Amino acid sequence: MKFALLTSGGDAPGMNAALRAAVRLATDGGDECLGVRDGYKGLLLRDFIGLTARSVSGIMQLGGTMLRSARSEEFRDEAAQRKAARLLDGAGVDALIVIGGDGTFRGAEALSRFWRGRVFGIPGTIDNDIAATSVTIGFDTAVNTAMQAIDKIRDTAAAHERVFLIEVMGRTCGWIALHAGLASGAEEILVPEIPFDLETAFANILEGRKRGKRSSIIVMAEGHRQAGDAPERARGLQSKSGVECRAVERGYLQRGGPPTAADRILATQMGAFAVRCLRSGESGKMAAWREGRLLAEPFAAAWAAPKPLAPFLVEILPALAEVRRALR
Ligand code: F6P
Repeated sequence: MKFALLTSGGDAPGMNAALRAAVRLATDGGDECLGVRDGYKGLLLRDFIGLTARSVSGIMQLGGTMLRSARSEEFRDEAAQRKAARLLDGAGVDALIVIGGDGTFRGAEALSRFWRGRVFGIPGTIDNDIAATSVTIGFDTAVNTAMQAIDKIRDTAAAHERVFLIEVMGRTCGWIALHAGLASGAEEILVPEIPFDLETAFANILEGRKRGKRSSIIVMAEGHRQAGDAPERARGLQSKSGVECRAVERGYLQRGGPPTAADRILATQMGAFAVRCLRSGESGKMAAWREGRLLAEPFAAAWAAPKPLAPFLVEILPALAEVRRALR
């Protein structure tokens, strides 16, 4: 078989590990691999490179993606999808592996309406917002990066008795905020999935200060933005309360850097699984990790339903916050 591989949408740590595993498994079985640079945008430009077991050496530990990525508006058009099908046929490709989020999978599904080849998705996004899989490649690294940043900000928060409002990424979801906030013991966590406003969170923080709490961190998911960005809202809170407030905005730092071991292992398994599924004739599906095993789920499962946050974490969050507020 001839496999083509591309990464699309926001890059995520671990994408390289998935590419490496897929290429190595495919070439080990005697198959050929082509890399498509810049996602669907590069596909339309026929920006292909040969990939061998050797050319994917040394990328496991690198963030980003060796194939680079893009968000292609053009690929939403049927004419572009038909053109991509012709180009893949022209290059003799039998199967396409796409690594990215739900937008990437929508692109693959659209392409498969016009292309005879097989397509398979690997979920790579820091947002962890794909319902079919309990975890996506890049999420664990992003949570660790955000957690480490919050730990560092805590030092200044304590030294200066300041309140920090830290906005983390996650698009419309609160996965990174919830996990990084819990892991760093943030005083308040604001996510779009749980109705709770910043003013109430801040009032709780002021109560804590009266009881002698020196450092206060509010972690807010970018999807929770209601009225203004984090710096604007921190300024508003400061001018109303007289308490020093600072903001740290969502940063691309969360999207880069070496993947954690968990992301490398997840990506390696998913890359190998994609090759195995395509060889056995599967198409129009994505790799999903659920209850300790890999499954092949239809692309539509990626966007069929919004992904709820981990239920037990959501359940214990208010109790943990209550205990913290009552501490003297
Ligand atoms: O999907 C990954 C992500 O980093 C989101 O968390 C964020 O909202 C978005 O991408 C930012 O997109 P862009 O790279 O296009 O600015």
